Amino acid sequence: MRVAMIGAGYVGLVSGACFADFGHAVTCVDKDQARIAALGRGEIPIHEPGLSDLVAANARAGRLTFTADLAGAVGAAQAVFIAVGTPSRRGDGHADLTFVYEAAREIARALTGFTVVITKSTVPVGTGDEVERIIRETRPDAEFAVVSNPEFLREGAAIQDFKHPDRIVVGADDARARELMAEIYRPLHLNRGPLMFTDRRTAELIKYAANAFLATKIGFINEIADLAEKVGADVQDIARGIGLDNRIGSRFLHAGPGFGGSCFPKDATALIKTGQDHGAPLRIVEAVVAGNDARKRAMARKVSAALDGEVRGKTVAVLGLTFKPNTDDMREAPSIPLIAALQDMGATVRGYDPVGMAQAKAVLANVTFCDNEYACAEGASALVIVTEWGQFRALDFARLKQVMAKPVLVDLRNVYRADEVARHGFAYESVGRPRSK
Ligand SMILES: NC(=O)c1ccc[n+]([C@@H]2O[C@H](COP(=O)([O-])OP(=O)(O)OC[C@H]3O[C@@H](n4cnc5c(N)ncnc54)[C@H](O)[C@@H]3O)[C@@H](O)[C@H]2O)c1
Repeated sequence: MRVAMIGAGYVGLVSGACFADFGHAVTCVDKDQARIAALGRGEIPIHEPGLSDLVAANARAGRLTFTADLAGAVGAAQAVFIAVGTPSRRGDGHADLTFVYEAAREIARALTGFTVVITKSTVPVGTGDEVERIIRETRPDAEFAVVSNPEFLREGAAIQDFKHPDRIVVGADDARARELMAEIYRPLHLNRGPLMFTDRRTAELIKYAANAFLATKIGFINEIADLAEKVGADVQDIARGIGLDNRIGSRFLHAGPGFGGSCFPKDATALIKTGQDHGAPLRIVEAVVAGNDARKRAMARKVSAALDGEVRGKTVAVLGLTFKPNTDDMREAPSIPLIAALQDMGATVRGYDPVGMAQAKAVLANVTFCDNEYACAEGASALVIVTEWGQFRALDFARLKQVMAKPVLVDLRNVYRADEVARHGFAYESVGRPRSK
């Protein structure tokens, strides 16, 4: 199958490389010429475990190519995926569909023969109808079908998720399009990756409902963590105690500094707007988003408490800047509002991240960036773990104690146990657990 993937970002590049790995002939298109030039040289513009090798192997085999020439790629393709960004629209939080509609117009002009146009970007319900209208208006003679095929991969585990999905959702009203989609994903459903066909609007809404539900689980456990702190209970045990119940499940029940990333905040907000527009408000999701927004900045109060309220003039070391481990993505990272709040309180902030330094430098001001966790801790009165990278799970406390001004650890991911930290002579503050001094 000849596939064109429009947008070579986290989703487009991973999906394109995986489809090529299944044996399809894939051309990844991006309007960012520098990105395409880098990919042509074998350089991967994002950090995603395993992606570099997968891209190299399939490029070498001639199944994966990169171009800025959308028309050429689309003209030759039987399936065209739209995997461009759908950020929050400034001002009202609706999904900004400018890139999707622009791509639809460009695709329309280049269509030859029956082509299936598949929206992989996360788009509000009804977007497929508009993409179809745009293509028909631009090219009344074109033979095409528009399909919704939302993507559920997680950054940091994207290849594994794409190749071993819990489900593949395809929203298609056209029989030929359903057949083509089954063919594209054939290697996966042979492996029992369940392929689920729905109508297009339902598929669009499944993606938002899934993200909003997961965000709600996180928001819920974070509120329980706050209550646990007040009443002297331990949220880790509560999460385990409820997560072992199969009806609830243990995943997405980790208390922390609030969710971030390129998807949950913007998708939950966009779903809220859709609900409001249709007179079906999503009160639960509204509460989750409001609580989460406030939470990230409020984490600075934990640092302040650990320093007995004396933050001004102190140095605070922040470990982990990306929104989660194993990615370089800084979009909506909890570190951003937390660091701003610490600076507002008068702290000097040092920061370190294993792979996200370049991206972090672009969005964080007045932070001293360091080469490793120990350099970061130098002169600090508090060390704050914001992102639970693996290498922060076995810190050398003796070494930290030597270089820090005060042995204080604020663990916003509950990586450590209070008793083990105390054994090393550190004061310890975590999330939803009793404090130890
Ligand atoms: N990142 C994730 O983990 C994830 C997971 C599931 C779904 N999604 C959804 O997938 C979509 C893409 O997300 P992403 O994180 O890959 O975005 P991204 O910003 O990393 O990549 C988008 C790419 O599209 C390119 N682009 C935009 N308009 C174009 C056009 N007209 N022609 C060619 N290229 C164009 C941009 O230059 C950019 O490189 C979004 O809707 C997002 O919500 C993302």
